[in-house]
Amino acid sequence: MRCPKCLLCLSALLTLLGLKVYIEWTSESQLSKAYPGPQGTLPVLTPTSPEPTLPANLSARLGQTGPLSSAYWNQQQWRLRALPSGDSTEAGGCRAWGAAAASEIPDFTSYPMDLRRFLLSAACRSFSRWLPDGDGGQVPSCEETGTPYLLLAVKSEPGHFAERQAVRETWGGPAPGIRLLFLLGSPVGEGGPDLGPLVAWESRRYSDLLLWDFLDVPFNETLKDLLLLSWLVHHCPSVSFVLQAQDDAFVHTPALLDYLRALPPSWARGLYLGEVFTQAKPLRKPGGPFYMPGSFFEGDYPAYASGGGYIIAGRLAPWLLQAAARVAPFPFNDVYIGLCIRALGLVPRAHKGFLTAWPADRTADPCALRDLLLVRPLRPQESIGLWKHLQDPQLHC
Ligand SMILES: *[C@@H]1O[C@H](CO)[C@@H](O)[C@H](O)[C@H]1NC(C)=O
Ligand SMILES: *[C@@H]1O[C@H](CO)[C@@H](O)[C@H](O)[C@H]1NC(C)=O
Repeated sequence: MRCPKCLLCLSALLTLLGLKVYIEWTSESQLSKAYPGPQGTLPVLTPTSPEPTLPANLSARLGQTGPLSSAYWNQQQWRLRALPSGDSTEAGGCRAWGAAAASEIPDFTSYPMDLRRFLLSAACRSFSRWLPDGDGGQVPSCEETGTPYLLLAVKSEPGHFAERQAVRETWGGPAPGIRLLFLLGSPVGEGGPDLGPLVAWESRRYSDLLLWDFLDVPFNETLKDLLLLSWLVHHCPSVSFVLQAQDDAFVHTPALLDYLRALPPSWARGLYLGEVFTQAKPLRKPGGPFYMPGSFFEGDYPAYASGGGYIIAGRLAPWLLQAAARVAPFPFNDVYIGLCIRALGLVPRAHKGFLTAWPADRTADPCALRDLLLVRPLRPQESIGLWKHLQDPQLHC
């Protein structure tokens, strides 16, 4: 061999190839072993009481048992009795909470811009609805439409017109017991194009947009979770289940309904279901994704369901709101919901049919989806293609 480098390259390539085959093989066999099929048995989990409770002091519930860390969130949670409610910079106001965080965190100025902005307004959680001019655009309450069994609450962004339309035409389309709503911030972005008139038209046409007057950015996702909960308490208190998903998710709605209807009542009452991460640790690489500075949070994350799509029992809505008023703000919305669930003494239920990082090469294969309940990310066209296949009576897998 006259080319030792070529040999090296070749062997490296072969190793990589072998690794890829191995990884694909193991993930495949894990999937087929672990998921028992649509009508199969339920996954085994530690039983807990399905009834939420909220102790006076949440610290122990939230895992603060050892010596108190000096990280800001840990300190706040230790002392916190209730988050401020008013939108003011005066003492006790929500903006004052942010200003205090900025002055008390020693290296606040080195935090990424998004995180700084999040903290400054993190305690401000009451926003009015953004309503289009003129009449219409009102979202009817569940009393008016009939209380759904399953509410599909899809987090979208004002500009995602195609994503929303694909959901309406596929898994979120009209079906008995189902209601579809989209959760959005203000269509008037910061320095962006004014999507107000377009979104107003869409809102009048479909009456399925819940819009609030806050900036629609990823770090404001928690607002969508919390404002939805408060909408549920006021306008849809008896809904059985609520799915919160991103607008690039694909939900096998009929299979999901079958699954929910077959749940033991004791599970159903305290349900928080999805792709569950247990013992996730904060990522400490500055500039990396989901960076969490050590001066803000110490410890492990609670078990939580991926924010790509999860389900809660409707009756938890008021409980979660009460918990959220006493759990210190946290930048990642799925971790935050996990903290609130933990504060209530509940645990997430994992389901292998929720895959929020679905490989792109499967998106065209309806058979790959047969035993799954929720996958993402998909493009609007892929969702439409997949839905058509699933409706096809000729489909054999
Ligand atoms: C929670 O309990 C700890 C330890 O007993 C105490 O130091 C802390 O102040 C309490 N927090 C609240 C909000 O009452
Ligand atoms: C979230 O929205 C509020 C209200 O529009 C805004 O003040 C805040 O800066 C936004 N948060 C982020 C991280 O941009």
